[in-house]
Amino acid sequence: MRKLNDDLDSVLAPIPGFLFSSAAHGTAWLLIHQAEADFKGGILEIGIFRGKYFSVLAMGSQFTGERLMGIDNFVFSPEEAVHTALSANPGTAECDYRIIARSSRNVSEEEILSTLGNPARFVSVDGSHEAEDVYQDLILTSGILSPHGIIAIDDFLNPRALGVGEATHRFLGAHRDLIPFALFGNKLFTCRLPFRDEYQESIHRFFDTSDLPEGHAYRKLVGLGKEHVEQRLHGHTLLVM
Ligand SMILES: C[S@@+](CC[C@H](N)C(=O)[O-])C[C@H]1O[C@@H](n2cnc3c(N)ncnc32)[C@H](O)[C@@H]1O
Repeated sequence: MRKLNDDLDSVLAPIPGFLFSSAAHGTAWLLIHQAEADFKGGILEIGIFRGKYFSVLAMGSQFTGERLMGIDNFVFSPEEAVHTALSANPGTAECDYRIIARSSRNVSEEEILSTLGNPARFVSVDGSHEAEDVYQDLILTSGILSPHGIIAIDDFLNPRALGVGEATHRFLGAHRDLIPFALFGNKLFTCRLPFRDEYQESIHRFFDTSDLPEGHAYRKLVGLGKEHVEQRLHGHTLLVM
């Protein structure tokens, strides 16, 4: 499998923000998987802050030439910081992206679809951590997701962001078409059922071949039995690292 960037960690290091290396590398892996499988679609993030995870998404967007869209109210940081971060790296400097500087509560499915030009193949939900806001972000983004699309939900298990877990459980319980397939790097990855096995097997391959500490841990745990890297959530088996 090809790589989005040979030195992902050094590219992301100068950008302020909190992002596990496994989340960055695993997401890059999934974006390449989609590109190689010819899964088309735009890419979207709600909650960009200074553009750390957005830069990983921008690499995936630039790789295929598809559009990237970001939504942020920019209460904590200026929008300009995102432009600076993306223009500083050759892997993101040519990315075709649009930013909507506004609360996601005031963005419609129609606006996202017309901005992206087509349904999204990858979405990051990382804006407000209030349960009702996160729930509405999940409703909004599941409505613009392509059949093969992935929604990554940040902070699902973060005790400092309990609203994310509350909203996600409520959403997964009520909207059975979105299935969790992996939990790693502080993000819960979900997709539609027909693509669950393919993405889950891909993430198994990611950890199986990864030099990250999580890769070493994965191989050790799988050696003891696959049940050591799998859990059940809302009736589905997902990979947990
Ligand atoms: C946790 S940070 C995002 C971190 C980012 N994904 C990264 O990789 O560094 C959350 C961001 O969402 C923004 N935000 C909070 N509530 C929002 C809302 N309702 N709509 C849009 N953006 C929001 C915040 O201003 C902040 O920039």
